[in-house]
Order: sequence, then structure tokens, then C-alpha cells
Amino acid sequence: MTTIAATRRVDPEVIAEHLAEARARTLLLIAPLTDQELRAQHDPLMSPILWDLGHIAHFEELWLTQNLEGPVEFVEMPGLYNPFEHPRNERGALRLPNIAECREIMDQIRDKVLARLADNDWDASNALLREGYVYRMVLQHEYQHNETMLQTLQLKQGRPYSPAARFDFLDGRLGAGSSVPKHDMVRFPGGPVDIGTDDRSEAYDNERSRHTLVLPPFWIDRNPVTNGDFAGFVAALGYSTREFWSDAGWEWVTRAGARAPLYWSWEDGGWQTRSMDQAGPLQPSNPVCHVSYYEAEAFARFAGKRLPTEFEWEAAASWDVSSRTKLRYPWGEQTPSKDLANVDQLSFGTRPVGSYPLNVSPLGCYGMIGDVWEWTSSDFRPYPNFQSFPYAEYSEAFFGTEYKVLRGGSWATRPGAIRNTFRNWDYPIRRQIFSGFRCARDE
Ligand code: AVJ
Ligand code: FE
Repeated sequence: MTTIAATRRVDPEVIAEHLAEARARTLLLIAPLTDQELRAQHDPLMSPILWDLGHIAHFEELWLTQNLEGPVEFVEMPGLYNPFEHPRNERGALRLPNIAECREIMDQIRDKVLARLADNDWDASNALLREGYVYRMVLQHEYQHNETMLQTLQLKQGRPYSPAARFDFLDGRLGAGSSVPKHDMVRFPGGPVDIGTDDRSEAYDNERSRHTLVLPPFWIDRNPVTNGDFAGFVAALGYSTREFWSDAGWEWVTRAGARAPLYWSWEDGGWQTRSMDQAGPLQPSNPVCHVSYYEAEAFARFAGKRLPTEFEWEAAASWDVSSRTKLRYPWGEQTPSKDLANVDQLSFGTRPVGSYPLNVSPLGCYGMIGDVWEWTSSDFRPYPNFQSFPYAEYSEAFFGTEYKVLRGGSWATRPGAIRNTFRNWDYPIRRQIFSGFRCARDE
């Protein structure tokens, strides 16, 4: 199937609003933090929040001022905020400006960016400006660093992070006990499926190009695996049963000594967990969160299933078998909102499976977008005809067998940084990310 992509019209005023909104959210998230909490390296895996803030601003300056003036430097910015010069575990030792200085820099850069935005020659042949792409790239970058900051805040020791604002879920549609089926699987009949996209207005290079794969039939869980399901694996001594684990998984679980997902603790005869400042008994109906790829893989084996490939995941989320059309989100074309899916951060945690009856794909899978990123069995590799754009350090530097692909976004993902074709990746041992999974099986 060939589609002629409609060229996306660029409205500088809308872009300016999105930039302002992104910054307002970043500042809302950090509002409750003390100077010490902003500066501290809370964990070797994560940057100090102050580093994320400076990095967000300098990335914006690089792409929305310098690189628009040319000559284009397709590298992340030099110096303090270059992630390749300074590995995360060393960022706590950098001489970072304080929060007042950092805010000043952020504002100065933003002023320059807005002046440049008003001056752009949108008709020129600058590939960065085509369909307004570089602005959406910078917006998504800030959104993605927001999620990283939330991982840091969940991980931090001491006083738990207490948000300045939360969504209220007064809407009676939300909440457990709806008619969403809970435990079954659905069958994908197999056949040709379009994977990826040719979009150039916002898709990352790793989502291109759109290509057809012929998938064998498979079954996939209707819902993500829940805490209750996963507690069953723990109770069945899953963590110490060798046969459930791959060789690499067994090596990890032995070395790391994991006995339950991150943030679970056994107290007074029951599991307790915590999401930011909300601590209490484990909610059995919520999707399991903070598991590594290896834990997901072991659970799947315990359940007599396996993890889906990223292509099976995308087929289940996006493909309408009867009309052979591909949807942008599982429910259609409408941008994610808090009523459609558990996204956009201000829930500060997962919600029970069944809370979002509209969050359903043509195949009948629920919650593919929101709540938790879902581990897939796929290595992070380029699609056919991959071309790095606009810089190799976003995707290309990470292609290979070291990283596993995650799909679907979490409660901490902003709507502008998730869609059915969006690919995230991480090391299979990581679990400070908001990661869960659903299972699949062969016919
Ligand atoms: C896509 C989440 C793996 O955090 O390393 C941020 C996103 N890239 N700045 C990361 C990203 C450059 C990236 N992940
Ligand atoms: Fe970055």
C-alpha cells in the first residue's frame, strides 16, 4: 500500500504554545524540590535533576537556534550537557549552575528561540524545518526528559516526592469494575501488516520507513500483566526456579538478588509498594511496573507464554485487519488524554486494568498506550531503508543486540511523545523505568 503523506502545515503560534506548555510542565514537576534535591545525584543510574534542566535548554538552543542558522552540527551540544562526554554516574560531580542561574539560562535560550521562530523561512529547503519537524523533536526531547526526571524522583532516597498537582479522576467512567474483560487473550489472524511510518512531521528516524511484514497468527493478552498475576509468580517461587529464566536472565537475577519487582517489599504478611508519595498494599488489579526484561521473560515462561515481538505488539495496537488500515493510536486518531488512557504524568502511578474502556485497539487489546511501557522480545534494530536524521546519537548509536524495545508509553509519558509506531529501548536489566509487559503465544 502506498500513501502520499499530507504535508503538515506549520503554525508558529501553535509551536510557541507547545513550547510554553512543555516548559510549564517541566517547572511544575520540579516545583516541590529543594535546592539539595535538585542538585543531588540520587542514584548512579540517573542524572541530577539540574543536569536534565540544563540539558533540555542547551538541546533546544542547539537545534532551534545554532543548527537553524547553519552550518548544521549534527551532534549533541558540547560541554557540560553532552550526554556522551559525561556518563550519568559522573554527572553528580559536575559544576552545574544553581537553579536560579539555570532558570535564567532557560529563559534566555527560550527568548532567542521565539525570535528565531518568528523569522523562519518555512519554504526554504532546510530539512530541519520541513513540516516543522525540528520543533517537534525538541518538544519530544523535553517530554522524554520529564519522564526521566520522574524515574529519578521515584528512585530518590529520603522524603518521597510529593507532586504539586495531580489529575482528579472524578469522572465516574474511570475505576475498576468496568466491563473490560480481564484475563483472556485475543487472536491475531496473521497476514500482511504495515509496520512503522513515513511521517516526517514528528516521527523519529527509528520509526521509518513504513514496511510490510507478513506475520504468522499469534495470541496476545488483552491487558498488561497485573500485580496480582505477578504476585502469583513470586509465590510460586518463580524467582528461584531456574527453568523459567533464560541464561542471561538467570545470570542477572542471581547477581542482582532480585526477589520481586523494584519497590515491592514484604511487610506483615503482604506486599507493599510505593509510587512517589503513595505507599500502601500492592493493588492487585494494576499493571505490574518496574520489572526488568528478564523478569518479564521469566513470568511469560512460567505462564506458558512468551513476550510479543515489537511487530506483534504494533500489529495488535494499530492494525485493523478487516480494512487493512493502520491507526495512529489503538483507539484511532484522537490525541491521548487523561480520559482515554493513563498518560501525561499527573496520575503519578498506574491505574487498575479496566479503567479505560475506550483505550482498546481494533483487535481488542486494552491499555496498549499508557500505564506502563511494555517490554517486547525485539532487539533495537534499524528498519529497512533506515536513514539517520537529524543526528546519529538519537537512534543509530544504540542499534544492536544490547537493547530491548519497549512500546506504548507509561503514565509518565506525555501525549506528544507516544504513538503506535513509537519505539523506546533500554538494557534488559533496567527496572527503574516505568516498565511492565503483556504476553503472547504462538497459535
Ligand atoms: C529514547 C528514552 C532511550 O533517554 O536515552 C533523551 C531519549 N535521547 N535525550 C534516552 C533521549 C536523547 C532516550 N530514550
Ligand atoms: Fe537528551
